[in-house]
Amino acid sequence: MEPTPKPEHPFSQPVSHATTTGMSGGGFYNANSAAQWSAIEQILPLVEEAIANLPVKGTGPVGIADYGCSEGRNSVAVMKHALPALLARTERPIQTIHSDLPTNDFSELFRSLRPDGGSVFGSERVYSAAIGGSMYDQLYPPQSLHLATTFNAIGFLSCRPVDRLPGYILPNGPSVARANGYVSEEDRHAFAEQAKNDIARFLTVRARELVPGGKLLVQVFGSKGPARTCDGLYDLLNDAVLDFVEAGDISREVYDRYYQPVYMRDLQELADPVTNDMYRAAGLYSLDRSMEYEIAVPFIDRFKQDGDLDRYARDYVNFFRAFTEAVLRAALPESPSREDLINRIFARAEDLLKADTSLYPFRYAAVAMLLTRNG
Ligand SMILES: C[S@@+](CC[C@H](N)C(=O)[O-])C[C@H]1O[C@@H](n2cnc3c(N)ncnc32)[C@H](O)[C@@H]1O
Repeated sequence: MEPTPKPEHPFSQPVSHATTTGMSGGGFYNANSAAQWSAIEQILPLVEEAIANLPVKGTGPVGIADYGCSEGRNSVAVMKHALPALLARTERPIQTIHSDLPTNDFSELFRSLRPDGGSVFGSERVYSAAIGGSMYDQLYPPQSLHLATTFNAIGFLSCRPVDRLPGYILPNGPSVARANGYVSEEDRHAFAEQAKNDIARFLTVRARELVPGGKLLVQVFGSKGPARTCDGLYDLLNDAVLDFVEAGDISREVYDRYYQPVYMRDLQELADPVTNDMYRAAGLYSLDRSMEYEIAVPFIDRFKQDGDLDRYARDYVNFFRAFTEAVLRAALPESPSREDLINRIFARAEDLLKADTSLYPFRYAAVAMLLTRNG
């Protein structure tokens, strides 16, 4: 007799205004997000510029919040970089706030914030807190923040604009070179509009939280010319999943409904809602700076140096497993063999990559903008 499936864990479905439950937890995201750190590192000058211009006159705490902090390693590292300059600019206490979905695994973050009973930021004037909630909602009291940041997170859409994406597992579609699927123009448009509406919503709720003159730094993976952060990576996951569709382990119906609700924006799509009246956030901010850039991916550089194919395949697949696994799990019907199937899909991806690395070249492009809350 088949064992009765366990009831769904209460954290296995996304909360309102979210389409994922978060990254793979238990330290897995922290261990597999060196590429995301490289993308953050490249725009640390924007963080420095924001800190140098924060309005710090007044009393009470200066609030700095990071949205989409995941397990916290990169979130804490950014603040570690930013805080010395801020501490030098003000005598006020500083509150760092690290925020992600309530379904996120915050354990590593909590463990890292006060090692040895003192602040990880090395100052008695810095106090830290975490909050669970969607970044598309207001999470802090009115005018309580001086700086808000988000890194590698706002590509995750607030909702699924279409029910099915039968030709591929990502709204931006397959790479031109691999061409292993399709996304209709109508569906592409629906996702592009959702992505702009999400930016507008994020800007609107942050505008309530920020003090006049406060800074907002929005950075996310996306595209820069022909470099798209989806190519190669989602082609590989798509090929691996399709192998299980063909073998009958995943039904066509499940595949048709499954997609990663993530959108790769270009710079224009990121910045348009700042000024375009259509999205109802125009006028809230002035645009200090915007940029598009590409980073060197650590696991690719290592492979170029050491030629270790097993390690490359493991690092590449673990990198994307960390941010795709939860959505894949939620798309698969619950059954006693679901975890095994998930493991086999990612193992299949490693095998496909090792069989021909040239089919899945990966590039990491990102877009960013620094804004000032209008007074
Ligand atoms: C790829 S991780 C980025 C983590 C970290 N900022 C970094 O750069 O390494 C994306 C994060 O966004 C979070 N996220 C996705 N949708 C969200 C939402 N609606 N509200 C808040 N966080 C969300 C995920 O839970 C995840 O932790």
